[in-house]
Parts: sequence; structure tokens; C-alpha cells
Amino acid sequence: MQIVLALCALIALFASSYAEVVQVPLHRIKTLRQRLAEEGKWQAYEAAREQSRAHGAQTTSDYGDLEYVGAVYIGTPVQRFNAILDTGSSNLWVPDKSCGGKPGCPDYCANLQNVCSQFCTAFCCSKEARDQNPCDNKHRYNSSASSTYVKNGQGWSIQYGTGSASGFLGQDVVCLGESKICYKKQVFGQATEIAAFFAAQPVDGILGLGWPALAVDSVPPIIQNVLPTLDAKLFTVWLDQKGAAQNVPGGGIYTYGAIDTVNCQTGTNFANVKYVPVSSQTYWQFLMNGVQVGTYTSNTASQVISDTGTSLIGGPPSIITSIATALGGTIDNSIGLYTLPCTAKPADIVLTIGGIKYNLHYKNYMVSINGACAIGIFGVNFGSGFGPQWILGDPFIRSYCNIYDVGQARIGFALANHKGQ
Ligand SMILES: *[C@@H]1O[C@H](CO)[C@@H](O)[C@H](O)[C@H]1NC(C)=O
Repeated sequence: MQIVLALCALIALFASSYAEVVQVPLHRIKTLRQRLAEEGKWQAYEAAREQSRAHGAQTTSDYGDLEYVGAVYIGTPVQRFNAILDTGSSNLWVPDKSCGGKPGCPDYCANLQNVCSQFCTAFCCSKEARDQNPCDNKHRYNSSASSTYVKNGQGWSIQYGTGSASGFLGQDVVCLGESKICYKKQVFGQATEIAAFFAAQPVDGILGLGWPALAVDSVPPIIQNVLPTLDAKLFTVWLDQKGAAQNVPGGGIYTYGAIDTVNCQTGTNFANVKYVPVSSQTYWQFLMNGVQVGTYTSNTASQVISDTGTSLIGGPPSIITSIATALGGTIDNSIGLYTLPCTAKPADIVLTIGGIKYNLHYKNYMVSINGACAIGIFGVNFGSGFGPQWILGDPFIRSYCNIYDVGQARIGFALANHKGQ
């Protein structure tokens, strides 16, 4: 499981990644609710609220600070799915009731048992891979059970670094978890086959929050569809920092239509939110001026992406090696990451964006993998061109709330609050 989570960062490198959810300040709502209930006004209040709601929050569960998983509701009556809320991709898909077949391994892996290891991954050579269907333990969408389903049928396939998902398109009512932000005619993927990689992940599917140009089959992403109904055409992501703890409810909050002033240090009139323009409306891409750790400085300006679906920070291998060295890390080949003694308190990693320095504290960038304390960075080669050179994944977003301003094609950052830090 832990090793697979390191791989999930690789997924994001190539095509896509994951996402995450947000939470309402529950105690406050409870107080209001109690008061209104006492006055016998709660039902009327709720009904009015439903009518006028123009922003809302969706909470995520935090899995070891490596994955943040939120609920997605589809159909009538509602069918519930767990998804990564991924700003690094733009399609929504969940497993279909018909999902089956081979666990994402080529046929020849099963057919060439003696020499399998020469041609296939260890997993594809294992008995589990031959026996298991990666959809076995997933929630699966049943269109026959939804009165609002509309058939589409067009095929789709999305390639991730470690495998793919494919199927056909359908249309139904989709809601962003408990946020009450819904779109009645959302087209989404009904996956009939998913890669073995997904079997080990605590998710059913993926909900993409990237730009339309990145969407497979040009399916309009749900965030675009709900945009006209939101108070503000943006969403805020706050990711909590919970260390190695698994499945911590409320470990993240996606707020749609508003800047999250509860979990982010936005300042009066949002004065502390600093924006930079989006440089390519595909991923959430923008320019980073440089990076600095201790006495090491790189002033190479680079295109970077903000990606909730990537567990770690990925960058050019030579720079990543220099950062790891400056932090005193040693490579652990069993996990492919640099590690430090768990008692270490390494220096901040400082990113400069829009001329402003963003300090990543070790509590936000160190991750626990297989019991080792790993620096949450990895080398990745994107090749040349106008695409991104860095992926600013969860360690960055844990440090700073990201405000994805769709309406103004810009992205903003504000220091994130974490209890006890
Ligand atoms: C799908 O829903 C229909 C209608 O409720 C039901 O009859 C059928 O058994 C369900 N199929 C699966 C595979 O759950």
C-alpha cells in the first residue's frame, strides 16, 4: 500500500492525478441548527438555504497525507462514490456495474508464467493479479437504478502513469459530496476496466478539477458546469496535515464558490491572498521563479502545476537531488525517495512564485512511507517544451491554501492553518 502510494505520484506526472475535498466549520452550523431547532424554524431555514445556496464545501478524508478522498454523489436516488478530487485532470469517472476483466495487466503476463518477470511488473506476475478484478471492492454505478440517467455511450480511455481506465460515457445528476453543489446533466465516465493500480487505492474513481482543454472526449468538467451558480467563480483547497494517520475524516476541505477564510489566513479583505496568472489553461499551470533550500539556490524560472492529485512534489532530477542533499537526505532505493532520521528537523524548502517566497515547513513536506521518514520530493523529467517542469503536489497545498480562480484564470495562495502548528 505505501509503495503504491509513492507510485500514485508518478501517475500524476504523466497524465493526471488526484484531488481532495473540503469541510464546513461544523460546530458553527450545529450551533445555528440547535438554535433554529429550538425555535421550530430549522426546516424552513433548510428549505430556504437549499434554494439560495451558491457556495458549499466538500470534506475529504486524509490517508497518510498522501491521498485525500472525497465523496461524489451520482443519480436518483443517490449512489455514493469515493474519489480523488484532482486538480491535475479534468474528467470524472467511477466504476460501472459491468466493470470487470483483467486487472490492467497485459494478457501475455498471465500466459508466460515462467518468464513473466522479464516482461511484466511483479504485480502482474502475482497470483493476485491473475485472480483479482480491480473493480471487485469498488462501489459500482448502476444506471438502471437511477431515474435521472441519460444514455450516451461514447467510448473513453484515460492513460495514467501506472495504468489506464476506460469505458463509456453516461449522464446523470452529480453532486460534489455534501456541498449541495450539483449539476443535473453531468456527463461522466462509466469505467468498464480499470488498472490494477487502482485496486489498492482507497478510492472508486477520480473527479477532475482541471481546465476543459485537458478533458478526454472534450467532456465539460463539472466545475465549469456549476460555475454560473456559484457566488464566486472559484474554489479553495485546504489540505490538513495528519502525518501517517490513515483515513482521517475532515482531513481536507474543498470550498466551491468562496475563499475559505476559516482554514486559510486570507487577511482582511483577502489582502493576504497572492495571485499569479494561469499560464496555460490545461493543468493549473503557472510560473515559478526559483527554489531555495539552505545555501542551495536555483533561479531557473519554470512552468509548474498545482496538483492536488499528486502525493509529493516532483521536479527536474538534478534540482531535486540538490535539494535532497541540502536537506541531508539519503536515497532509499526500496521506495525511490530520499529519507532522513525521523527525529530530524530539516530546513524549509522555499519556493518563489510571483516574486513572493513560500516556505514549506518540514511537517508539511515530510511523509511516512513504509515506516521511513521521506522527503516528499521526487525527480521527474517532462522533456522540453511549454509543458510543466514541476508538479506542486500535496506538500505545497498543505502549506498554502490554493485558490483556483476559474473566472479570472489565476491561482492564489494563502497560508494554511493546521491545529497545533
Ligand atoms: C441495478 O439496478 C436494478 C434496478 O434497481 C436492479 O434490478 C439490478 O439488480 C441492479 N444491478 C446490479 C448489478 O446491482
